[in-house]
Amino acid sequence: MRGVVLVGFMGTGKTAVGRELSQKLGWPLADTDEWIVQQAGKPITRIFSEDGEPAFRAWETQALEALALLPMAQVVSTGGGIVLAERNWPLLRALGPVVCLTAGVAEIIRRVGRAQDRPLLAGEPEEVRSRVEKLLAQRAAAYQRADWSCPTDGESPAGIAERIIQRYQLNL
Ligand code: S3P
Repeated sequence: MRGVVLVGFMGTGKTAVGRELSQKLGWPLADTDEWIVQQAGKPITRIFSEDGEPAFRAWETQALEALALLPMAQVVSTGGGIVLAERNWPLLRALGPVVCLTAGVAEIIRRVGRAQDRPLLAGEPEEVRSRVEKLLAQRAAAYQRADWSCPTDGESPAGIAERIIQRYQLNL
């Protein structure tokens, strides 16, 4: 049974919207970052620093493969870079419609704050802004591959969840 998949840049609200969707639909919530931390037995920052980013990206594919084997519809919230690997796309699509949450740079920076747990956004505020802009530009085409993009600025997680449910008639 197909569920729904949330992709999008860091700070676009995938986790918060995922929780709302899961509650409203009564479907379990699977978060690839959480799955990885559990399986690897260490936080994402340590996976990046000790094993390198490619190791983390391999974990992301494994997470999708494991989730795709589960028989029930689920809400899948993903890490911001999961869209980068071509091999992840058939897995993402198998899990359900792929919805990309988007937000403006200022909003992303406000939401991620001083990110202790996001290795790609560590550093001083000016540095973080230019890193966000650069990563967004690098990833724009990958995010555009999603089935639908949903802007989140000025919207509540519950409101966004409702829009996604309506768009895909997920509650029927
Ligand atoms: C990443 C996003 C993070 C996490 C890791 C890498 C990225 O997840 O997977 O730090 O490459 O954009 P969130 O998007 O949930 O912050």
